[in-house]
Amino acid sequence: MKLSIQNAASFVPSGCLAAAAEQTAAANQLLESGLGAGSDFLGWVHLPSSITEAFLDEVQASANILREKAEIIVVAGIGGSYLGPRAVNEALDHAFGLNGNNPRIVYAGNNIGEDYLADLMELLDGKTFGIINISKSGTTTETALAFRLLKTMLEKQVGKAAAKDLIVAVTDKEKGAARKLATKEGYKTFVIPDNVGGRFSVLTPVGLLAIACAGHDIKALVRGAQDMEKATGVEVPYEQNPAAQYAAIRNVLYQYGKKIEILVNFNPKLHYFMEWWKQLFGESEGKDHRGIYPASVDFTTDLHSMGQWIQEGERTIFETVVSIEKSNKTVIVPMDEENLDGLNFLAGKRVDEVNKMAELGTQLAHVDGGVPNIHLSFEKIDEYNLGQFIYFFERACGISGYMLGVNPFNQPGVEAYKKNMFALLHKPGYEAASEAIYARLNK
Ligand code: PA5
Repeated sequence: MKLSIQNAASFVPSGCLAAAAEQTAAANQLLESGLGAGSDFLGWVHLPSSITEAFLDEVQASANILREKAEIIVVAGIGGSYLGPRAVNEALDHAFGLNGNNPRIVYAGNNIGEDYLADLMELLDGKTFGIINISKSGTTTETALAFRLLKTMLEKQVGKAAAKDLIVAVTDKEKGAARKLATKEGYKTFVIPDNVGGRFSVLTPVGLLAIACAGHDIKALVRGAQDMEKATGVEVPYEQNPAAQYAAIRNVLYQYGKKIEILVNFNPKLHYFMEWWKQLFGESEGKDHRGIYPASVDFTTDLHSMGQWIQEGERTIFETVVSIEKSNKTVIVPMDEENLDGLNFLAGKRVDEVNKMAELGTQLAHVDGGVPNIHLSFEKIDEYNLGQFIYFFERACGISGYMLGVNPFNQPGVEAYKKNMFALLHKPGYEAASEAIYARLNK
């Protein structure tokens, strides 16, 4: 992985960046010492290096059982219990579902769309399917609701005994309804460690099981994360530490009025990685009425929509471009004798070369337009590089959150809507809140 902050550093005074660089060491040290805010949730810091081959074999063995039995596997989860596995799988899967003998992976429990759920049930009707039910708390409404529907359907289709072997629960070691249900029904379970928060949990069974089910190499993924853990640790000086450099430049840009960071890709397979990243940084930093707003775009698609705003809108943004050096496949532009489309100047070139020139042209145009540009490049999209990518952003997020002065490991704000929803739905225990909310609405 290579990081370049040159095209962003020129937008801020060098003294400020030097001061921020110094702060990164202290912030990184807090992650190591556990003396900062939210230190109960630092299990992710040395998670990659603590993962054993034996543990990965156990996850793989469980995935293999589901892979053998099921033609479709439904991954039920939301937020930190959803975005990580989807990010990795969608980056590695065939763009149009031609995944050979691998089961098809679909996602549920991440919304309450009735049509979505009805469509899913239509898809599963008459098929052998498995379910991975992922919920740390075990009480998340979206996930629990989807799981109830799926479990009922599966038991109806194959019977209770066979359904038991097609369901795996990934949840807390003892607390919550998902654990209780798994114990009662005898499901295979994996534990989400207490000290790893949802958005930092992709390298726990939250991500690993669903990624292995899709047929991807979880050992290579973890190896990439392990190497990045070494490359971003406290002992690595700022000049060689990409996580520290990224945290420093984004905090200085924020001080200079750049309130929105747009994560950019030029490869549609990275769309869900951007979604994962938005949760990671949004939930970690957006609190106490502070924090960069994390946005994302898929280029060149969105150059034809958001490109105008980015080039000429309010100058409160900066971009972080995730660039992939090499495509995994080759497509050559053919020659056409008539050349009616005027594209013969591209004949013989790889499509990736065209994409790369679009990327470079965009970078130059945006920098000229006043948009600081951070550039992050990965050799290619594979498990190893994705593992690096994941840990790089996790470490940078921890450092950056501490530099900002917030607790990067809690998410008190996500409870507000739940309280209102439960009151509106008359959930037992919410009687007083129900009365108050209906009185407010009927005023
Ligand atoms: O980051 C978080 O904590 C949230 O996004 C949770 O992961 C999400 O709400 C799902 O929670 P749970 O795993 O408890 O169902």
